[in-house]
Amino acid sequence: MVKVNHALSIFNEPDVFRKIAKLRKYSTEILEQDQANTLDSGFMPARDAEMVHPKFHPAKPGFSTALGQARMLHDLASIELQAMELGLRTLTEFADAPLAFKEELLQITLSESVHLEMCLMEIEKLGSKWGDWPVHQSLFRATSEKDSLLDRILIVHRYLEGSGLDAGDTLFRRLALIDCASVKKAVQQITTDEIGHVEFGSRWYRKICDLNKIDPNIDFSERMDKLMVQLPQRLEPVAVDLRRLAGFSEEEIIYLQELRLRKLGPQQQPAR
Ligand SMILES: [Fe+2]
Ligand SMILES: [Fe+2]
Repeated sequence: MVKVNHALSIFNEPDVFRKIAKLRKYSTEILEQDQANTLDSGFMPARDAEMVHPKFHPAKPGFSTALGQARMLHDLASIELQAMELGLRTLTEFADAPLAFKEELLQITLSESVHLEMCLMEIEKLGSKWGDWPVHQSLFRATSEKDSLLDRILIVHRYLEGSGLDAGDTLFRRLALIDCASVKKAVQQITTDEIGHVEFGSRWYRKICDLNKIDPNIDFSERMDKLMVQLPQRLEPVAVDLRRLAGFSEEEIIYLQELRLRKLGPQQQPAR
């Protein structure tokens, strides 16, 4: 009997609503997949919105307008969509990972589908729709078929989702000045859930290090240094309290703060 590759059928589904429905429909089959399926080099999931490099995206209107809020949520939806697909990517490429890891990751992947759906609904309430702006896939591009499981956990949950906590913190402070209760509620819900996603990454990063007899306190900076070439730059200030809640050690937080200062360059560093 030919086995159906449910993960691939989800990646290749362009319609965002059908993609969510398929993930939910086939979640048990995805969890029970026993053979790893590595994606081809350079593989990118299908989209029903125009794909454009972020450098060429149109200027963002201010948050005080409905259009500006919808645009922010559209950018966020594109991130949630990639987070959902990144969870699926790990589940299918590391089908031989510990079952407890996969079970937790499946719940996170489904939670990304809820975040995505929330953003899509809020965008429509504001009078816009998915596809009104271009999207990018720079988060998905940060992963590779050559990643080890430790690389993948560090990239997706501790770096990309961790950076999302930093960005969410800044975003929430900007939204505080604006009268948009429904949007704020959605962003607050997403940020709260994301702390759990990053904490999952911190906890499993250490567990997988232990299983491989690797010292996580030495490995973190070494692996981050190695992976930086494939990761998008993140320049938001490190949200120290949220990072602590998400399982980052003080040494790891200092590493991230220094990394940011190195990327900002000497002119923009605060005076000492
Ligand atoms: Fe999310
Ligand atoms: Fe997440």
